[in-house]
Amino acid sequence: MKVKSQVLSALAEARGGVISGACMAQKLGVSRNAVWKAIKALEEEGYAVESHPSSGYRLSKENNRLSEEIISAELETKAFGRKIIVLDETDSTNNYAKKLSASGAEHGTAVIADFQTSGKGRLGRSFVSPKGTGVYMSVIIRPDFSMETARLITSCVACASAEAVESLCGESVDIKWVNDLYMNGRKICGILTEASLSMETKALDYAVIGIGINVLGKDVFDEALSKIATTIEAETAVKISRNSLCAVLLNKLEEYLGKIGERDFLAEYRRREILTGNPITANVGGVQITGKAMGIDDNAELIVQLDDGSVKSLSSGEANLCRIKKN
Ligand code: BTN
Repeated sequence: MKVKSQVLSALAEARGGVISGACMAQKLGVSRNAVWKAIKALEEEGYAVESHPSSGYRLSKENNRLSEEIISAELETKAFGRKIIVLDETDSTNNYAKKLSASGAEHGTAVIADFQTSGKGRLGRSFVSPKGTGVYMSVIIRPDFSMETARLITSCVACASAEAVESLCGESVDIKWVNDLYMNGRKICGILTEASLSMETKALDYAVIGIGINVLGKDVFDEALSKIATTIEAETAVKISRNSLCAVLLNKLEEYLGKIGERDFLAEYRRREILTGNPITANVGGVQITGKAMGIDDNAELIVQLDDGSVKSLSSGEANLCRIKKN
């Protein structure tokens, strides 16, 4: 490992504390001059490092450069994020992760980008992914659970993501069935899961879980998009560290997906879900329906009572409030 990378890990492992150049030099078995050079190189790459003349160096709380070393220092996982690829730019982290999966990438591999030129949303839509403001992450999983359980992945991931965001900003996060996270009535996060089936076993070969979170900035989106999307900073005035969010997200994903089969997350999903109890419109296979959202069933499907009184469970598609619930 390069000295620069080792110095960055040492700074990250100090978890906001100051660490002296001498201490790093001793720990890494290099000269103090080599540590100093590494710090300068990190600054040139855009890392925010504070120099404290009498005591040493600290990774600034303001640091906004994404890094494998910083994320790794906060991981508590066995597999998730144990291999991380951080990119300055890509078309879509899901596309990148699918290519890696096809060539055998390990369970838990995470691909994270600072900017996506063609971020993908569900139903063929795009996901606007501005530079330096979001977390755009795709995680490769090679699960051994059944296809029935696999259908719960997106809802389970929505709970894990909501808890990760909430733990860092302190503001409560809602879920809009099936895969959107909301804060104060506007979207802060979308999830796109893409799966590959094995023709032989008819089981999941791999799935790529793509999560896009709008984290920083107050005027990130154009006027039209601002009506439906927002950022965590705009809603809470909290500037979450994107590296910490990546780490907490990976920790929560491993925890939640590890017990997906028990379906315990459904109670939390129901508590957070905002369509329930409200009149909705939904698009079911291209057909528009209207009714009232009655709740979430044990398969994470949306139970809808249609205007003619019949009851239907929707497994996918999109549903919207007829009018926004005022609390
Ligand atoms: C949606 O809102 O419909 C889903 C959005 C999913 C966006 C994420 S960002 C990381 C990953 N890469 C993509 O191209 N899409 C997902």
